[in-house]
Amino acid sequence: MKLRSPASFRKRLRERRRKKKDRIRNDLERYGRTILRSDEMRRAYQQTHHTRSTVGEHIQRVAEKSLAICYVLDRLHIRTDIPAVVAGSLCHDLGILGRDEKYGSEKECYRRHPLDSLAVARRLMPALPEKTPDIIERHMWPGAGSRVPNSLEAFVVSLADKAAAAEDFIRGSRLKHVGFRETVQNIMKRSAHRGKHPGK
Ligand SMILES: [Fe+2]
Ligand SMILES: [Fe+2]
Repeated sequence: MKLRSPASFRKRLRERRRKKKDRIRNDLERYGRTILRSDEMRRAYQQTHHTRSTVGEHIQRVAEKSLAICYVLDRLHIRTDIPAVVAGSLCHDLGILGRDEKYGSEKECYRRHPLDSLAVARRLMPALPEKTPDIIERHMWPGAGSRVPNSLEAFVVSLADKAAAAEDFIRGSRLKHVGFRETVQNIMKRSAHRGKHPGK
């Protein structure tokens, strides 16, 4: 058996990471474009979340982790509904925007924001993928009195949400992102450009 040198191993690892980033970026662009270019997503990057992060960065982490889990499952021949996961992860906490004005207490916020997020999702994407409403509604499981996720996709997003929340607290806003923010910024830049130069 031919042994690989450490350098070639590192090269292969880098290549694999790059491919994963590209795949995440493509899936987000393809299935989440309307959400990514929304005013809600822009505002999400301006609202603090989990003490040291922002709602936008948290959403970014959840979306990336959810897709990474789906890709691993795919390698095991377990198929997941990627459009549903993208829409669900991108919208799962958008209802939390304006938290201080909307909710009287933290407990109320925990319990109500999934349904408020679903309302935002329906407004941004009237034809939501079939599994997305439950993904959003049940993402707080096992906390906040949430019902148990009823699909593999809902489990994936709920799991990614917990992992992302821990990372928000630990790493704060120092994200090593994989292109999501870049995607949001590019879309926002293009929208601003179109505003100045209508018709483009
Ligand atoms: Fe949440
Ligand atoms: Fe969340």
